[in-house]
Amino acid sequence: MHPVMTGRRVLLIIGGGIAAYKSLDLIRQLRKQGASVVPVLTRAAEEFITPLSVSALAAEKVYRDLFDLTDEAGMGHIELSRVADLLIVAPATAHMMARMAGGHADDLASTLLMATDKRVLIAPSMNVRMWQHPATQRNLATLRDDGVLVVGPNEGEMACGEFGPGRMAEVPEIIAAIGAAFGAGPLAGKHIIVTSGSTHELIDPVRYIANRSSGTQGTALAVALRDMGARTTFVTGPARVAPPDGVTVVRVKTAREMQEAVTNALPANAAIFAAAVADWRVEHEATEKMKKREGEVLHLTFAENPDILAGVARMAEGRPALVVGFAAETTDVLAQAQAKRARKGCDWIVANDVSPETDIMGGTENAVHLVTGDSVETWPRMAKAAVARRLATRIFAHLCTG
Ligand code: CTP
Repeated sequence: MHPVMTGRRVLLIIGGGIAAYKSLDLIRQLRKQGASVVPVLTRAAEEFITPLSVSALAAEKVYRDLFDLTDEAGMGHIELSRVADLLIVAPATAHMMARMAGGHADDLASTLLMATDKRVLIAPSMNVRMWQHPATQRNLATLRDDGVLVVGPNEGEMACGEFGPGRMAEVPEIIAAIGAAFGAGPLAGKHIIVTSGSTHELIDPVRYIANRSSGTQGTALAVALRDMGARTTFVTGPARVAPPDGVTVVRVKTAREMQEAVTNALPANAAIFAAAVADWRVEHEATEKMKKREGEVLHLTFAENPDILAGVARMAEGRPALVVGFAAETTDVLAQAQAKRARKGCDWIVANDVSPETDIMGGTENAVHLVTGDSVETWPRMAKAAVARRLATRIFAHLCTG
């Protein structure tokens, strides 16, 4: 039994893929953890597994047909879509994802997904080429933007003999994702905002000023906080790494958009500013593409961008209990970080040396100092994911046990 699963009701939509057999085990495991499962089978799923085996394992009626249900006085499709705490689609085929992204409601499963007011978690499963197809990737991005949680797919040998991403996540991974969706973990009930990536400040419609931030550290941090059960709002500028699943993603381009997104996401228990925000923007952005003229030197004038971190750290009312900034420096790292902490009014600064020879900016590892008040901790160089987990644990200690 798992405390967050006990007494939870999960509506499991089983799609028509070879991985449908794993859903039988998913039902068993969920029930073992103390959850109850309301199963829904698509027509295609019935080609892979039988309603009888699903019903026997779930110890519940299997729902299959939209029109059965609307005729039925007992429970209509709207009600069925709301009886559960979470909807899971496993396996989620390419076709099912396309129908979800397109808002179709032409069978029971798609209608329930449209009608629900609960969170939805999908476990995609398909041939590697179908997964990599631009249409599927487009649908995936749409579903993520709609707040759908995604677990997997994994890479590996596929039933069709090909190799690559497309295998449905294993049952324990799906159970972990369900646990995270239910807010399991020590940071459950806490809302944390993370900024990440770079910003693009437009010069004209086709040119911009940017920086080399890849978004790796900010993304790793959002993952670590999510995994500890925090409700995480991830405000990201352009980045090379994809935003994580299971967090609320707000995409922005400019510093001013980032500031607005952070303001809209408040209140929060903590706000972590990992984004590399441009300090300046071009004062007068050209509305048409700028043309070069023979012998003419271009002069741009810059205006200062709002300091998002300082703005939140100095809020008179509703300030998050913990405000953390990052300081990417190339000289006098500690002295700069301590001065920055005082200047910005934040609680902690995570400082690092981003001189080109460190390979930290855009790389996979980080070596940071954590500046908290007068004390400084120097952490050894480690993977950015490990830095993120250590920082998330410190945030937990500060918010929940401090
Ligand atoms: N930051 C921010 N808004 C800005 C600039 C920076 O929120 N307009 C945040 C960053 O996300 C980071 C911290 O402030 O957490 C430090 O950013 P940095 O650019 O190093 O600070 P600056 O004040 O610009 O200092 P410097 O003089 O070193 O550029």
